Amino acid sequence: MGNIVQQDLLQQLEQLRQEAEAALTQANSTEATRTWHSEYLGRKGRLTGILRNLGSLPGEERPLVGKVANEVKTELENALQERQTAIAQAELEAARSAENIDVTLPGRPQTLGKLHPTTVTLREIYAIFTAMGFQIFNSPEVETDEYNFQLLNMPPGHPARDMWDTFYTDSPDLLLRTHTSPGQIHAMLAYAPEPVRVILPGKVYRYEQVTARSESMFYQVEGIAVGRNITFSDLKGVLTNFANQMYGEGRQMRFRKSYFPFTEPSVEVDIDCVLCGGKGCPICKYTGWLEILGAGMVHPVVLLHGGYDPVEFSGFAFGMGPERIALLKYGIDDIRYFYSNDVRFLERVG
Ligand code: FA5
Repeated sequence: MGNIVQQDLLQQLEQLRQEAEAALTQANSTEATRTWHSEYLGRKGRLTGILRNLGSLPGEERPLVGKVANEVKTELENALQERQTAIAQAELEAARSAENIDVTLPGRPQTLGKLHPTTVTLREIYAIFTAMGFQIFNSPEVETDEYNFQLLNMPPGHPARDMWDTFYTDSPDLLLRTHTSPGQIHAMLAYAPEPVRVILPGKVYRYEQVTARSESMFYQVEGIAVGRNITFSDLKGVLTNFANQMYGEGRQMRFRKSYFPFTEPSVEVDIDCVLCGGKGCPICKYTGWLEILGAGMVHPVVLLHGGYDPVEFSGFAFGMGPERIALLKYGIDDIRYFYSNDVRFLERVG
């Protein structure tokens, strides 16, 4: 009985070897060799199945079957490894020829990043003003009520505060600056009683309806010059020179009388609208002009707050909107493109 079982197991092992070898030649992918391995050599595979019967053999008959089983296993494992190497090689070759690399083709051009149109405009503004002797001065975006309003001649309750819809914070007195004008005070206090000539660029925030020409976060570039004998003609000369350099000679510019509590007299400066050629469009509110800045002679009270004696000193100040300037320069018809992160806009402009 024992002999029959031993013969039977040896026969089964031989049959397994032949079948497994035949099956392996049909396995044509890494995936198929994995399936093959679990079918024949895996924990629940056929070889393990046969060896489970080893226990029913008399002790002296087991070694032979065990030895043959090990030989079959080693043989199949070696065959599997060989097959896997061949398949991996074939797969690599296939991938290579599928890629079909044409080494004579020119390389793909790299897409280069660009500066944002606001950055480009700001840099042009810096270049023009630094050439006129202005230095760049930074001041905070989060301001106190005192600097944003009071020291600029707007005590609490002053009606002119309504010109700037303000984002307040939870801390009493702290707000997001509505304009760069508080920087005038910072700069004057830093320089007084020496003359000062600086520009102050940065972001400002207004709790305002967003439209084609107005954002709620935008940039301003403030300018201030304080010294002896500075007149309105100096302001006009500086701004005309700026406009000619920014837009090219011959652009129409107009000074309109206006009101700001921190300048007296005050003006607003417009440039003829390039988008409609002065005919009127939504950007210029159908006036043919686009306002780019507010300006004026520094109010004596503000000079005092900045540490200057208004009898001895005078000065001018202005605050311009670089996005409005860029709208005109690049013929952009909606300010909302600037910060909506549409890459098509960013690629086209600047
Ligand atoms: C001011 O903010 C004054 N501080 C300017 C000033 C400075 C006057 C120094 C006198 C002396 P105004 O609110 O008009 O003024 O804004 C100045 C400029 O910022 C405008 O001419 C315009 O170019 C730009 N601007 C104003 N509001 C917006 C807005 N919502 N979106 C984009 N640009 C704006």
